[in-house]
Amino acid sequence: MEKKRILTTSKTEIDTENEKSLRPSSLKEYIGQEKIKGNMDVFISAARQREDTLDHVLFFGPPGLGKTTLAYIVAREMGVNIKVTSGPAIEKPGDLAAMLSNLSKGDILFIDEIHRMNKVVEEVLYPALEDFALDIIVGKGPGARSIRLDLPPFTLIGATTRAGLLSSPLRDRFGVICRLELYSPEELQEIIMRSAKILDVDITPQGAHELACRSRGTPRIANRILKRTRDFVQVLNMKKIDEESAKKSLDFLEVDEKGLDTNDRRMLNTIINAFGGGPVGLDTLAAAIGEEKDNIEDVYEPYLIQIGFIQRTPRGRIATRHAYEHLKIPYQEGQIENERFLL
Ligand code: ADE
Repeated sequence: MEKKRILTTSKTEIDTENEKSLRPSSLKEYIGQEKIKGNMDVFISAARQREDTLDHVLFFGPPGLGKTTLAYIVAREMGVNIKVTSGPAIEKPGDLAAMLSNLSKGDILFIDEIHRMNKVVEEVLYPALEDFALDIIVGKGPGARSIRLDLPPFTLIGATTRAGLLSSPLRDRFGVICRLELYSPEELQEIIMRSAKILDVDITPQGAHELACRSRGTPRIANRILKRTRDFVQVLNMKKIDEESAKKSLDFLEVDEKGLDTNDRRMLNTIINAFGGGPVGLDTLAAAIGEEKDNIEDVYEPYLIQIGFIQRTPRGRIATRHAYEHLKIPYQEGQIENERFLL
């Protein structure tokens, strides 16, 4: 089971509730991801003008950045229904066939974690995406034959943490592929101010900025930290979330000024202390810290790479000078040569 982690990006039940009430419902309300919003706005307007179905869309990027939220927004702006499922939930081809045949013209089918769909199910999806048809096998043995059922035109929106995890035939069937980026502290500050208003939490812009800087570029974490800080402020009688009370709460939560929690620091410390700063291969690192490889690649690394604490080289991960400085571990000059050589 996953350890309780305030900075986890995996969805908990509380988050699902949280996200429903805090989730923006239009592109206009959605903060950040400007490029994607601009492009989606054009594709949606064009499809609506032509009274056409939107092309299939793939959203990829680290967890917690708003892929599901965007799918709901696209449905709302297209004025169509959305059916939501996930790759692992579709166990048999029949499950997918049932979902597809229940769609109406123009509807959206959203498949989260689409990279985790099994191969047999994926095969059913190909003709559905390309020709809006279902190929069903009737009968068994020599008498078995395939019949083709027509489906109404629909839009698939797929979400995955990394586009590279999809098979290329599946990836090729998406007409629109969007990569979500980590959010800037300014964007997260805006998201926190918006969420605080919805939740009726008293917060200053400086307080929101402090929380934003420690949210690892991820709105899901920002909203969770906001709620936990609200709890501390309430119980410790600190009145409102300002810079000071935000700092105090985050110290209680063991989230440091850079947004790293004990797990991030443990990973960096392991690279530095057990592997001389690296390079260390992903498998070795995963075994050393007792984490799933996918978790390291999808959850820990994107942020640590973005803030320049880790570099990925052909021979493995290395901790940079910034990581040493942050952890207050002396950095030896020779190591920088090492870094250059490896790049
Ligand atoms: N809540 C979570 N993500 C958001 C976003 N990108 N914009 C506005 N509110 C959000």
